[in-house]
Amino acid sequence: MKKLGVAVVGTGFWGRNHARVYKELEETELLAVCDINAERANAAALQFGVKPYRNFGRLLKSKDIDAVSICTWSTSLAKEALKALKKGKHVLVEKPMATNVKQAEKLLETAEKEDLHLTVGFLMRFIPGVQHIKEAVESKKIGDLVCATAKRVSQWPERIGDVGVVKDIAIHDIDITRHLFGEDPIAVYAKTGRMKHRNFEDYAQIMLTFKGGKNAFIESNWLTPYKTRILVVTGSQAIMKLDYITQELTIEDAKETVQPRLAWREPLKLELQHFANCVLKKDEPLITGMDGLRALRIAEAASKSSETGRVIKLK
Ligand SMILES: NC(=O)c1ccc[n+]([C@@H]2O[C@H](COP(=O)([O-])OP(=O)(O)OC[C@H]3O[C@@H](n4cnc5c(N)ncnc54)[C@H](O)[C@@H]3O)[C@@H](O)[C@H]2O)c1
Repeated sequence: MKKLGVAVVGTGFWGRNHARVYKELEETELLAVCDINAERANAAALQFGVKPYRNFGRLLKSKDIDAVSICTWSTSLAKEALKALKKGKHVLVEKPMATNVKQAEKLLETAEKEDLHLTVGFLMRFIPGVQHIKEAVESKKIGDLVCATAKRVSQWPERIGDVGVVKDIAIHDIDITRHLFGEDPIAVYAKTGRMKHRNFEDYAQIMLTFKGGKNAFIESNWLTPYKTRILVVTGSQAIMKLDYITQELTIEDAKETVQPRLAWREPLKLELQHFANCVLKKDEPLITGMDGLRALRIAEAASKSSETGRVIKLK
């Protein structure tokens, strides 16, 4: 089977994980890594036995590279993704995909024009418990869906500093609620604020309202001394609780509490394998550029709601 020739741009904490997984997968061949920081590019290249680049434009000239992971700082993701699409490469761009909706629209337009696969690093969708909850919601195993509550809190991760908590972490839960509800919210109300971070909001409470009065409540912050990543989905007959860190799923109804033993899987491995198969075998993509764009639009609406103190209606 032909392997997908891949490269990773941005070899910080997360980009090195992409590179490692591409080396491990049967479907992919890691050919190059790139970072504006030469020391980081060289160290990653040495670790993975591939060619280092400091200049992404030069890397993109390589004909053997079919696809790239964009793992640079959040504020440079869109610019680097656009360069790659313009050079005919399939792209997995990390979340938040872009810093604004306009940049994200440009990526979608370019991918469509060039007939390339564009996807966004919404890793949470690949956690087995999320797929389990999605099936339970769709088959109404938990009755009618009422609400979802997501909590994603921790101390401030020193390495990140170019976007606030909404675009950095709440965006995962925005995407997951869109995915589970199978539709987009019609209204957003949010309160965000800054306590410790120099430039950006470091806490956010976001309420999304869906058709028929269903709601999602998202709590995110960089102020809590310990890390929690929890999702609770309430149906009229049962509730499901997922711990994203341990991947433990609990289902409770009036009679019993059940903990299905789902095998732990590395979500990044599933995500990058799916990315490769979407290109190699034309598998139906679980996440499209449009998912990234819509999540970003909701994130922007949350910030606007907090600024204005109003509910923002979404089309
Ligand atoms: N999906 C997830 O669960 C998840 C998890 C962690 C990080 N991320 C995302 O991955 C991205 C990287 O995060 P990180 O924690 O690895 O950050 P990091 O600061 O550790 O690494 C970023 C690297 O990108 C390099 N870089 C920046 N701009 C560049 C450019 N234009 N060209 C080449 N290299 C460039 C920097 O020198 C640095 O080495 C962020 O957008 C973050 O949101 C996603």
